[in-house]
Amino acid sequence: QDVELGGYASFYEMELAAGAEALSQTVASLVDVDGSAIMDALDVDPFELKRIRKVVVVGAGTSYHAGLVGRFAIEHYARVPVEVDVASEYRYRDPIVDDGTLVIAVSQSGESLDTIVAVREAMAAGARAIAITNVVGSQLARVADGVLYTRAGPEVSVAATKTHLAQLAALELLALWLGELRGVLFPEEAIERRRALGEVAQAVGSVLEQTEALGATFRELASSQRFFFIGRNVALPVAMEGALKLKELSYLPAEAYAAGELKHGPIAMLDREAVVVALVPADRLRPKALANLEEVKARGATLVAVVAGEDARVTELSDVVVEVPATPPLLFPFVGVVPLQVFAGTIARERGLDLDRPRNLAKTVTVE
Ligand code: AGP
Repeated sequence: QDVELGGYASFYEMELAAGAEALSQTVASLVDVDGSAIMDALDVDPFELKRIRKVVVVGAGTSYHAGLVGRFAIEHYARVPVEVDVASEYRYRDPIVDDGTLVIAVSQSGESLDTIVAVREAMAAGARAIAITNVVGSQLARVADGVLYTRAGPEVSVAATKTHLAQLAALELLALWLGELRGVLFPEEAIERRRALGEVAQAVGSVLEQTEALGATFRELASSQRFFFIGRNVALPVAMEGALKLKELSYLPAEAYAAGELKHGPIAMLDREAVVVALVPADRLRPKALANLEEVKARGATLVAVVAGEDARVTELSDVVVEVPATPPLLFPFVGVVPLQVFAGTIARERGLDLDRPRNLAKTVTVE
């Protein structure tokens, strides 16, 4: 196993370190040298996609979180309403589906039963379906009308890392393509966005280079018992993913909240014992995010900020600052999630847990 792990202590850490590569391989497989989209493998009639009236993204766990990020891109670029649901809820809520619905099912394994059934049922009601999966020939890939494969390579760790980055990339590219098809985006604009996505792999790489330094800082927080993750807008699903990773690997209570919701209840839980991880993208909501950091600080909680670009005010307010490269706002999740993956791994390792064998979990859930 040592050889397989190439010097890493676990598959989790090895795969986390491969995030930039997973992202760039996925982009390379879906973007041509001239910057145009390669969507022929998708095998869904572009005319059908042009006239869809609603998109529904379904998935579970980390794949669901990717879908939540994807919603921002699809609504922004393609101007079509998007619903995102966990597959196990979607299938039982008697959803409104017709032949103007496009279901995008996100699943690393392509074998999560809830996701497969959600897609089957939506298709039976007239929807078209596209699968985003990392496993060629998986059941989901076979059930859906079309597939976009992520090219992250096999993922062994139960807690997903690199495949999440690849999912985010596939969703962004699908959003751009829908935007072009629907005449919302000019081809040159779409090319420009795809170029920006290609560049984000380097930004992710630069965050990954800080893994050791981040670990050394995060280690100090390993004895804390309560963790909160907050973000707004595109950073909220990042917060949710950070909390999920920590729960899976460390078994500690870790909850994510929309930062604006704190004052509607959750802030009552904050005290000196709590650790709050705040996501601060470089977007128009930055002043709002800063106001949330102030609220957290005033309650005496330990504040960890993951901030895009340098920010003196954030540094002043926070106990730990993780600076990630400033990207176009919609691409923040790519660089924002990596420190949270490192965070979860560090806390769990420090607590003596086996990162590759989290208790009670299976890599793929093929039962209801
Ligand atoms: C991720 O770290 C989890 N192990 C889990 O939430 C996972 O994302 C979920 O079970 C969905 O799996 P899938 O992507 O293979 O469908």
